[in-house]
Amino acid sequence: MEKLPHGMKNILVTGSSGLIGSEVSIFFSQQGCRVHGIDNNQRAVFFGASGDTRWNQARLTKEIPTFCHHEMDIRNRDGILNLLGEIRPDCIIHAAAQPSHDKAAEIPFEDFDTNAGGTLNLLEAARRHCPESPFIYLSTNKVYGDRPNSIALSEEAMRWDYADPAFAGGIPESFSIDQSKHSLFGASKLAADVLVQEYGRYFGMPTCCLRGGCLTGPNHSGVELHGFLSYLVKCNIEGREYRIHGYKGKQVRDNIHAEDAARFMWEFFRAPRVAEVYNLGGGKANSCSILEAFAMAESFTGKKQASTYEDAHRSGDHICYYSDLTKCRAHFPDWDITISLHETIRQIVESWRTRLGSPLI
Ligand SMILES: NC(=O)c1ccc[n+]([C@@H]2O[C@H](COP(=O)([O-])OP(=O)(O)OC[C@H]3O[C@@H](n4cnc5c(N)ncnc54)[C@H](O)[C@@H]3O)[C@@H](O)[C@H]2O)c1
Repeated sequence: MEKLPHGMKNILVTGSSGLIGSEVSIFFSQQGCRVHGIDNNQRAVFFGASGDTRWNQARLTKEIPTFCHHEMDIRNRDGILNLLGEIRPDCIIHAAAQPSHDKAAEIPFEDFDTNAGGTLNLLEAARRHCPESPFIYLSTNKVYGDRPNSIALSEEAMRWDYADPAFAGGIPESFSIDQSKHSLFGASKLAADVLVQEYGRYFGMPTCCLRGGCLTGPNHSGVELHGFLSYLVKCNIEGREYRIHGYKGKQVRDNIHAEDAARFMWEFFRAPRVAEVYNLGGGKANSCSILEAFAMAESFTGKKQASTYEDAHRSGDHICYYSDLTKCRAHFPDWDITISLHETIRQIVESWRTRLGSPLI
């Protein structure tokens, strides 16, 4: 492996062509790091051509002259063990995954092998070759299963909200992950989440799980089964119907711009801790329901959002979820949300217009 200039850090990002991986690759290289990315465009295998992330891989190669792409499947155990032995990264950010809960039920083996098996491959490779390096895992709020749906809710004109004052600030990390419906995706991600914690607690490695709300931004290849805001804006611009699954369209998600998520990872890299868990989302201020998201997208495009409604909600789907950011802010006081939901949607609109070649209105 090529020798780095003095003081330069080697960062390994899995899922580097995806939304989070690409944002992190750009952010860390802007901080002077050398970034190695692992991606095999598996998103196109999961979701078809509209999930293809090659365009984003090409963007990284263009924007980061020192970026080093590794075309590898994280399920390839020997390949991962060898690669980490060669690179010995100073930090691992693991963002490669099968990311959709509905898709997982169709492909349970691929889902589990990727999400749980792939994570184990990376953890064990890190333990053998760079146990001191922070290991940051992109987990998900689906590890809480559908238990958030047991919280008392109030129904408002456009959204659901927590009626129980204990959750006025959102869901904290102490919320139970046990005995609720997770979907197979939630279960494979939870298996990985517990493994990441265990490599911290058992082996003393500086690991953390970031239990994401909706991570979003202009570089998502949003599809119906994953990437709700990105897909919703795309539907609006293309004049396509958005299909609402139950809960009257008032289901609430908190949205964090991928750049704010990358900034959090940078803080963890600079001051790592062992076996930590953080609920990393946009918090209440950046939360919205589907109906509210329609209104925001319409305000930018001037186009009425067409939609169809199906009474049945997605199995295990949250009615209302937003993250309590208290622990994130307490551990990393220099970090906070810096990009509003409004600005995030503006950027997504702009990005789809460019990518779809749609004229500005
Ligand atoms: N986007 C969200 O709303 C959200 C929310 C919570 C958690 N997360 C988690 O964050 C992480 C990143 O999500 P994202 O939105 O960037 O997803 P994404 O699908 O945009 O990116 C994932 C990337 O990983 C690659 N990949 C998948 N399987 C692979 C494999 N076996 N080997 C190599 N590469 C592989 C894909 O090709 C893709 O480019 C995932 O772990 C996801 O579960 C995302």
